[in-house]
Amino acid sequence: MKYTIDNDNPHARKAKIRSMFDSIAKGYDRANRILSFGIDQSWRKKVVEHCECTKNDVVLDLCCGTGDLSALIRETGAHVVSLDFSYGMITKGREKGNIDELATVADASKLPFKDNIFTKVCISFGIRNIPDIDVFLEEVYRVLRPGGTFVILELTRPRHNIFRVFYFVYLYTLLPLLGGIIAKNYHAYRYLSKTIHTFIDPVTLSAMQEKHGFIDIQYKSMTLHIATMYISKKPPVATSFLSIPLSKQSHPNNVIIH
Ligand SMILES: C[S@@+](CC[C@H](N)C(=O)[O-])C[C@H]1O[C@@H](n2cnc3c(N)ncnc32)[C@H](O)[C@@H]1O
Repeated sequence: MKYTIDNDNPHARKAKIRSMFDSIAKGYDRANRILSFGIDQSWRKKVVEHCECTKNDVVLDLCCGTGDLSALIRETGAHVVSLDFSYGMITKGREKGNIDELATVADASKLPFKDNIFTKVCISFGIRNIPDIDVFLEEVYRVLRPGGTFVILELTRPRHNIFRVFYFVYLYTLLPLLGGIIAKNYHAYRYLSKTIHTFIDPVTLSAMQEKHGFIDIQYKSMTLHIATMYISKKPPVATSFLSIPLSKQSHPNNVIIH
């Protein structure tokens, strides 16, 4: 199953993805550490550094999995809400103490939250599993507070030709083999390899973010372009407030002139 955008009818695909993550939840962390040679946690730390979280932040960690990123964000004193649609992954994260009782089991493209409530939204290694990516980006924009930050961490493809050859050999042979042994699901890791190979590139993803209203979009490649971090913002109050039709605006300072 390669990555394809499907904003209209993603449900069957999502059901498959959810049950796949439920099935690998137990071995997921161990497989992650071994397959990434331990680098995955240093990438998550970079996300937290760039978020510059403080105790005044309310951060949404989307596709939180077993909560490794949620735990790092919480260490900064910020308030974290973790969300994932796999009950198995959330349960494992709760057992590890990474995820608290506020965890939400829901689809990242249909967020059960009011508008403008999170100061930051993060997603690590989750976005390439989301087929309805336009719907997802709209939802993130909706729940993010004006001026808030959106950070994506995702696996990408190396650019250096020789390294690329080794990387793809690893991706299609060793990764599913070891993933199959450690997390006991060869097909799940084969799927993960395919989505890394076929997910949209950083230029396209940045353009999509721009289309959905995000500003100050930057991306930063890490470890020979194996991973990329994207940082963007929702425009601050003035711009986003003006973009709401007048009929929908309610503002304490609105004055009706007769
Ligand atoms: C590769 S794991 C990443 C987990 C974690 N963020 C990390 O850093 O290890 C992808 C996670 O995304 C979740 N996921 C995929 N699609 C989702 C969706 N549409 N809504 C909510 N969670 C989703 C999966 O259940 C899985 O836990």
